[in-house]
Amino acid sequence: MTSLHIGLSAQEQEEKLIKIRNNRDLSTFDVVSIDDLTVEDIHLILEIADEMKKSGTRKLGLLKGATIVNAFYENSTRTKTSFEMAGKHLGADTINISGSSSSAKKGESYQDTTMTLAAYGAQVIVMRSEYSGLPEQLTKHVPSSIINAGDGWHEHPSQALLDVKTIIDHHGTLEGKIITMVGDIMHSRVFGSVARIIKKLGGKLRVACPLTFVPENVEKVFDIEIFTDIEKALIGADVVYSLRVQEERGSGGFIPSLREYSKTFGITKKRLELANENAILMHPGPVIRDIDMHSALVTLDDKSRVLDQVENGMAIRGTLQWLLADRCDGKVKSCIRI
Ligand code: CP
Repeated sequence: MTSLHIGLSAQEQEEKLIKIRNNRDLSTFDVVSIDDLTVEDIHLILEIADEMKKSGTRKLGLLKGATIVNAFYENSTRTKTSFEMAGKHLGADTINISGSSSSAKKGESYQDTTMTLAAYGAQVIVMRSEYSGLPEQLTKHVPSSIINAGDGWHEHPSQALLDVKTIIDHHGTLEGKIITMVGDIMHSRVFGSVARIIKKLGGKLRVACPLTFVPENVEKVFDIEIFTDIEKALIGADVVYSLRVQEERGSGGFIPSLREYSKTFGITKKRLELANENAILMHPGPVIRDIDMHSALVTLDDKSRVLDQVENGMAIRGTLQWLLADRCDGKVKSCIRI
């Protein structure tokens, strides 16, 4: 859990963060894919997030004067809440747009809606959408930085960053670690980003799932090993990472039944014990209890890091917003694409 820097005032905490940042910026203007980030960028984000986590929910002024729009055209609990809380925690003015409240309902295009939001001077637009590639497409039309908060089946980069932080918090490194991901990689944007970041940081990714969930060429593209026998995939794992069966994206059409899937691939205590003694259990949420994993494991098992992932989400998302909205001169940047 968070260890607050009790002795530090908000101003001292801000100064500490500015010192750790040491005039460094990300090499990218937008974060729509893990591919936008260099290894140095990822280390910068993790370093700052570590310190940001220590400030807990204390109000800081690092983003005073910044406007951040959270445009969530698809439902979210964790991602939306943590982006908004983190933005407020850093002093930004945060504005929320949803599918039901936006002019998209009146037939306005996503491009026009996003250009309108940018015209109000938003430094950062955080966007979730059911359409793969939409955030990337919109970067071509607005001067604001865009953070992809999940697009269709494609990517969810802030999730992968908080996952890596969770793994490193426990294991100290990702290098050489075996991560066994279990579930529907076909429809999972979390898989898209986690697979990319693990490859970048030198981890080894195994996937356990029915072959019907395996996209063509995925083994070669992401350098992963596919198992249809979950027991074999779990032996020697340092991280057991369960994914949700995404019924709203049609996952049900790829398996005989949820009951059958759960019997063959659901994480049970017995299966978890096949992983290394020091292994951790992760899930991006929302968890479908007793389908993805046995209910008793979700938050109560010693190995579970599900709520640590949630907590790390605040620190990672605050860091992304700060690094994109604020440049090294210590001022909130004017909203221009550079
Ligand atoms: N992991 C994740 O993206 O959860 P939400 O859909 O609740 O944001």
